[in-house]
Amino acid sequence: MIIGSKLFYFENLPSTNTHAALLLKNSDIREGTIIYTNYQSAGRGQIGNRWESEDGSNLLISIVLFPSMINPLDQFLISMAISLGICDFLKRFIPSITIKWPNDIYVNNDKIAGILIEHSILGDKIENTIAGIGLNINQNEFLSNAPNPISLSLLTGKNFDLNNCLQMLAADLDNRYKQLISELFTQIRDEYISRLYRLNKWCKYKDRNSIYTGRIISVTEYGRLLIERPGGEISEYSFKEVDFIL
Ligand code: BTN
Repeated sequence: MIIGSKLFYFENLPSTNTHAALLLKNSDIREGTIIYTNYQSAGRGQIGNRWESEDGSNLLISIVLFPSMINPLDQFLISMAISLGICDFLKRFIPSITIKWPNDIYVNNDKIAGILIEHSILGDKIENTIAGIGLNINQNEFLSNAPNPISLSLLTGKNFDLNNCLQMLAADLDNRYKQLISELFTQIRDEYISRLYRLNKWCKYKDRNSIYTGRIISVTEYGRLLIERPGGEISEYSFKEVDFIL
């Protein structure tokens, strides 16, 4: 086991990702170490957003990785593997889990988990990666203005033991990380694409030019999203260049 071979628990932290970065700077830390906490006072989301999580209700974890087998240009592979590991965990309890590109984990039209991956790149090598995961488990009420949060307990009507969940999640992420180490890149990419939220469905999107109807058909080798228009034209997007409209 690599992911979860060492676990560091903190009752509360500003942010597990920030703390993982601090540990990487100041100490020797083994690959696969998980830093986790009950509460974050400054939990970070993508594009500078805050991550809301009630004290003691959810999984808030950061995994330290040294993915030397991945070229920095191919870093989206790491994001895909982590997303799939979370899906594997959730599949144990609920059906219809999808990945909203690039790496939000969805159940129907609601978000159950978010991922914040931070790489440190030195020359042509990834020196280290911090994979932060916020996974909503037992929270039943969300107070922030996040548009569509959901949790495992809201979906199932049950409460879950967080420590058991952490063990299972670590095992599922470890399997996916081992696929990366074994360079099963095509398998990871194909599974990721087949799990995409709205794959092949005609839906509304907004880019800097217009609102239009299109369908997601794939992602490129470098993780850019491909949306086809009714006329067959294909648009390619980086993160934040396109919005999904409901
Ligand atoms: C998103 O905006 O969807 C990404 C959310 C990522 C939240 C997790 S919670 C654990 C880790 N520590 C952080 O500060 N953020 C990530």
